[in-house]
Amino acid sequence: MQAPPIWLVANWKMNGTREDAARFAFHANQALMAAPASLTAVFCPPAIHLESAQRNLPQNARLKLGAQDCHAEPHGAYTGSISARMLRDAGCQFVILGHSERRQSCFEDCDAVAAKAHAAQEAGIAPILCVGETHEQYAAGETMAVLQRQCAAFAALPVAEMLIAYEPVWAIGSGKTPSADEIARAHATIKSELGSAVCVLYGGSVKPDNLREILAIDGVSGALIGGASLAIDSMRTMIAIAGGKGRN
Ligand code: PGA
Repeated sequence: MQAPPIWLVANWKMNGTREDAARFAFHANQALMAAPASLTAVFCPPAIHLESAQRNLPQNARLKLGAQDCHAEPHGAYTGSISARMLRDAGCQFVILGHSERRQSCFEDCDAVAAKAHAAQEAGIAPILCVGETHEQYAAGETMAVLQRQCAAFAALPVAEMLIAYEPVWAIGSGKTPSADEIARAHATIKSELGSAVCVLYGGSVKPDNLREILAIDGVSGALIGGASLAIDSMRTMIAIAGGKGRN
């Protein structure tokens, strides 16, 4: 039987130098050589470092490149923005969209995220769509309703060409994670909205110490990792853990 696909997505946010990104790309790709084919790892450095990461990867690299945002339009007078086509041209196969840090600081709503996702798919890039509740919504018992509402915006997109990342806002960078049961229920809700075929990753304070446990939760197809992906040693350990799970 074929092992189910497992995903590790390294979200570097606004961190690292060009050199750091180049070195990380090389070493992460080396670590992936020993991993089963069912494991896919995606490196999402700041957009300005994509080219140096790309230059340090061989042609058929196991490590894939992703961006952290794109514009919904293919080109035009949008100062400071990058289109999905440009990302594709720079070697990206993935783009993180709707991260809570952008939803909050750039006031991106669900429709804006869906428009970007559509543009990404049109350009041949798979969006990694982030959803998740705030602490206030969690405390009020609104998690599933929030997820249903956020996922409804993506209902028209082809699921085979996208990933969803369930990232509770309160778990990001906080060292806190929901219980295994809460993660399983959130993933089941997302799948019931978008179809059981959609790959759903968990994100929020994932690190080498809890990755194995998180990957074992029902419905979890991988992890979106921020802080713990910045150091290559930590990433290597996580590749080994995820690779172990993906082995037949
Ligand atoms: P974290 O970030 O792993 O540092 O919590 C995850 C994310 O925001 O994607």
